[in-house]
Amino acid sequence: MININVSKHPLVAHYLTRLRDNKTDIVSFKSCLERISYLMAAEVYSELKTENKTIFTPLKKAKGQKINTKVVILPILRAGLGLTEGFRNLYPNASISHIGLYRDEESLKPIKYYFKFPHIKDKKNLKVIVLDPMIATGGSIIFTIEYLLNMNIIDINIVSLLCAPEGLAAIEKRFGSSDKKLIKIFTCFIDDKLNDKGYILPGLGDAGDRLFGT
Ligand code: PRP
Ligand code: URA
Repeated sequence: MININVSKHPLVAHYLTRLRDNKTDIVSFKSCLERISYLMAAEVYSELKTENKTIFTPLKKAKGQKINTKVVILPILRAGLGLTEGFRNLYPNASISHIGLYRDEESLKPIKYYFKFPHIKDKKNLKVIVLDPMIATGGSIIFTIEYLLNMNIIDINIVSLLCAPEGLAAIEKRFGSSDKKLIKIFTCFIDDKLNDKGYILPGLGDAGDRLFGT
């Protein structure tokens, strides 16, 4: 099953508009993306599981909570790096994994060039948060989800800025019929469509190029 959560936060809408604006330079692009990463992280982390913990305040014994989920943050290189900061700073115990993918310009198919993931035995208690600002054809995210499912990871959360309807339809077609797996997508906006080169319209251009000035 696929569950799509579109942010309604006014600050997300505000910073997304600045990211779309072609007058936004590299400095502002990076800072707007980072601010959105905190807002999205708060949303995704609101689902973390906790367990009871007893502590002593300076005055008396008190009941509290501690996170009991193992979290792995997985940015898709390159542009996913721009969303990492909020997730890492709000929960520094998370491990940071990386997957390197780029789209072949002709076929638009993802090519993998890097993957590093921590060795974790207990996958039942593991939440993986995949970061990629753009879901266009959906090829990169489908490749990544398949990779994680092959590793027996079940709690898969995708965070993006913009989704094209074509990409969401491809994800739904590939994984939607499985009622055993729940894939959650947290996004800031669902855009209109793709152009004939596979770019999201109206979109924000090439996220990696705008973030890194290439
Ligand atoms: C972009 C983007 C996604 C992918 C989305 O990466 O960051 O990873 O395209 O497109 P898809 O849904 O059609 O697969 P790109 O291939 O441009 O690599 P980069 O981040 O290194 O620039
Ligand atoms: N990747 C991007 O960075 N932008 C798009 O519009 C599509 C894919």
